Amino acid sequence: MLDKFDQIIEKAQSFKISSIKDLEKFKLTFLVKKGLLNQLVQEFKLLPNDKKKEVGKILNTTKKTIEEIYNFNSQKISNTKIINNTNNNLPGYFSDVGSRHLISSVVEEMTLIFERLGFFVSIGPEIEDDWHNFSALNFPPNHPARDMQDTFFVEDDIALRTHTSSVQVRLMEEGNLPIRSIMPGRVYRNEAISSRSNCFFHQVEGLYIDKGVSFSDLKQTLYNFVKEFFGPKTRVRFRASYFPFTEPSAEMDIFLGTETESDYKLTKGTGWLEILGCGMVDPNVLKNCKIKEEYSGFAFGLGVDRIAMLKYGVKDLRTFFNNDKRFLYQFKSL
Ligand code: DAH
Repeated sequence: MLDKFDQIIEKAQSFKISSIKDLEKFKLTFLVKKGLLNQLVQEFKLLPNDKKKEVGKILNTTKKTIEEIYNFNSQKISNTKIINNTNNNLPGYFSDVGSRHLISSVVEEMTLIFERLGFFVSIGPEIEDDWHNFSALNFPPNHPARDMQDTFFVEDDIALRTHTSSVQVRLMEEGNLPIRSIMPGRVYRNEAISSRSNCFFHQVEGLYIDKGVSFSDLKQTLYNFVKEFFGPKTRVRFRASYFPFTEPSAEMDIFLGTETESDYKLTKGTGWLEILGCGMVDPNVLKNCKIKEEYSGFAFGLGVDRIAMLKYGVKDLRTFFNNDKRFLYQFKSL
């Protein structure tokens, strides 16, 4: 019987195992119930008791050896499998790292300029009530801006804000004077979508309330912004205008010229393009927000999308938000 142990080990050691199939064959030959190893166990059981001790030991080491051969080869084959699946010529995966949206970069650029002038940033809600979006800002009850055609209403008196001027009201109501703040954010208007207008866009609102604030403070602040943002040689002009919440009101234009076709179109042949509305905060608005009489102030509202188009030569407003990565990645480094 001892010979049989030697034979079975020899057979196991010379068994050719180079695939999972071979491994399975090895198992069937040696390790299953009807395999060679179990046949020896059965023979062992028939031995007289006095021989069992000695032979039992050999049986155990034989069993262990065969199991080791099996485990060793099983591991070798599973490793080989992984290596075979790796094709070093395939291009690697690059993780798709996102980048900041152009509009966010422009808002940040503007914010940094105003922060240097001493302005803080405040954020207000995009869903507003009639009071903050219209009434407190001195919109007469029948003003066309309140119309369904311009405003997305959520409920009777609740709407998606049509401008960031609503945040001015919230700030003034808080009553922490003086106020020197900008308020960036998204606004919504029920407009036909085209290359020059969208149903949502972005504004940066500005508000400065203190004792003795004058129109020249307003002009100086905006001049400063434009020179920093568009460059020191930029030409600007103020035009008298009208907003319910400012008196006097103005609009500021920057000069692009009419040399290129797109500048000609954008400026409707005048060379000038409007970039913001502004003015001295109307006394009615100050009263609505319970600001004491000795205070006055100025406000302005900049259109972010339009400014981003101008600065980065974007021709169609819709490209900002149709999420085409080919467009967005051009501004990755900003
Ligand atoms: N809210 C105005 C708009 O959406 C922009 C604006 C004009 C804001 C004059 C102001 C301002 O603060 O003083 O068209």
